[in-house]
Amino acid sequence: MPLSPEISAPPASPGPTVAQSFSEAFGSDPAGVWSAPGRVNLIGEHTDYNAGLCLPIALPQRTYVAAAPRADRLLRLCSLQSGQRYELNLEDVRVGNPTGWGGYAAGVLWALQVAGHEVRGLDVMVNGQVPFGSGLSSSAALEGAVGAAASDLMGLDLLGDDMARAALAAICVNAENTIAGAPTGGMDQSAALRCQVGHALLLDCRDGTIAQIPFDLSAVGLVLLVMDTRAEHANVDGQYAQRRASCQEAAEQLGVASLREVGFNDLHETLDRLSDEKTRARATHVVTEIERVRETVALLRAGRLADVGALFNASHASMRDDFEISCAELDIAVEAATAHGALGARMTGGGFGGSAIALVPTDRTAEVSSAVRHAFAAKGFDAPDCFAVTAGGPARRDS
Ligand code: GLA
Repeated sequence: MPLSPEISAPPASPGPTVAQSFSEAFGSDPAGVWSAPGRVNLIGEHTDYNAGLCLPIALPQRTYVAAAPRADRLLRLCSLQSGQRYELNLEDVRVGNPTGWGGYAAGVLWALQVAGHEVRGLDVMVNGQVPFGSGLSSSAALEGAVGAAASDLMGLDLLGDDMARAALAAICVNAENTIAGAPTGGMDQSAALRCQVGHALLLDCRDGTIAQIPFDLSAVGLVLLVMDTRAEHANVDGQYAQRRASCQEAAEQLGVASLREVGFNDLHETLDRLSDEKTRARATHVVTEIERVRETVALLRAGRLADVGALFNASHASMRDDFEISCAELDIAVEAATAHGALGARMTGGGFGGSAIALVPTDRTAEVSSAVRHAFAAKGFDAPDCFAVTAGGPARRDS
């Protein structure tokens, strides 16, 4: 696709930089470089912790780590972006320690031990291309890259087949939930470890099974545009946890294990059994969103990629009105994109900021990006970052 000044260039591999920075910081060469991708979820939002369905793709943007094992139990973590350095013993990793990005990285080593693996100390240099706070899952990319490095360097064999990768994803979720204290559902870690190039990952969060759904927009003259609103999003603040608690509450009132058990066709009579308007709205989003994932997958399998746009729009409306996780920047990105040629658009990820995605005919990409920028400028918002993405590959060893 020709690059337009409106669209950011795809990322370059920072492999050599991160290895070189490792040598400078630690005074010896790393044993290798590993990476894992950020993600956008095509559809199926806030369904993962409801045992539902979601459909992420891995991004070309990845987080790279250069790493070397240590003979002792020390953990030394450096980041090229923040310049921040952590040094602590594996025994000292616990709930809330370390804080910040170090908790996600150190948490993986902690969670590997909890899962019964024998773990040693590690020196790690991080260079991430997945922007922080953009709702593109920089934390799962970091966890996946550290998990991949630890697996190889400690002979744990957790990158071999999909079953092993699913086990590593669960370990990364434990790190994020327990050490970093973000009560997230697991989609992001599965995306970082289990997505395949050119495919969307249909993840059934009830039993962890997956299907790889071919997803090649360029073949049909379309582009997936990410619109990073730069409105900072965080899963560790209370809103995400509140939505999760509302869903749990709805399931309890209905006497089911999760909202996945509520059939789409039974939704209306089921809602009557819920105590209040808010809980009904939250449940409505989850149940209809799971159905939209099914419809999206059916359209993709039928080669009707352009028709997915309408489901994007319906999903966004559901998140804005029923689940109430959108914000002014996300709504404006979605409105401007659809008003200027996008076939559909929706916020992606946890919400309350972060990124939206739009399905756009290739020849309208510059126009859509420009319209989104202008709409932001007119509202006095910081300029968004718009870039096209394709479905990338999972966590891997790079060198
Ligand atoms: C965040 C969480 C995921 C998922 C999404 C919403 O990205 O990390 O587990 O719940 O929000 O779909």
